[in-house]
Amino acid sequence: MAIRKIIRMGHPSLRISANNVAGDFIGSKTMQRLLLDMTETLRDYGGVGLAAPQIDEPLRMAIIEVPGGLSRYGDIEAIPLTVFFNPNIEILNPDVAGYWEGCLSVPGLRGYVERPQHVLVSYTNLTGDPEELELKGFLASVVQHEFDHLDGRLYIDHIKDTKKLVFEEEWLKFERQ
Ligand code: NI
Repeated sequence: MAIRKIIRMGHPSLRISANNVAGDFIGSKTMQRLLLDMTETLRDYGGVGLAAPQIDEPLRMAIIEVPGGLSRYGDIEAIPLTVFFNPNIEILNPDVAGYWEGCLSVPGLRGYVERPQHVLVSYTNLTGDPEELELKGFLASVVQHEFDHLDGRLYIDHIKDTKKLVFEEEWLKFERQ
């Protein structure tokens, strides 16, 4: 296992569409090593999600791990470490809500982003089987943020009011009420 370097906004690899994961990749030694690296990296950097392109691996693969209970995001439901291959999102309700998002590839900043709050995620799981996950609220925003990385998008692309793109230090002082 190794903590990998997370590439930052400006690196061209964050702006390209990642490749579909092939069936024989899932469960392979290469995949297991990559998954361990991504998990260790996510935990070391202290995020809730990481997409493979963020460590410069152009694959449609992302992990999410949300500790439950009170956090900087409020009182939220937990998600154990979950791996998504080739995920697709279907919006079940287009009503949006906003959160102050951050990104390990855009360190030091926060931005207010509105996204649909009820989605169905279809993906291939760790055993290579199709699986679905219905998510609401904050977690719906988290998966949309992570899967955007697989299409070369960053949360800043969704910010409607650029006054709501701020440094995290100032956000902690002035915005987080
Ligand atoms: Ni991100």
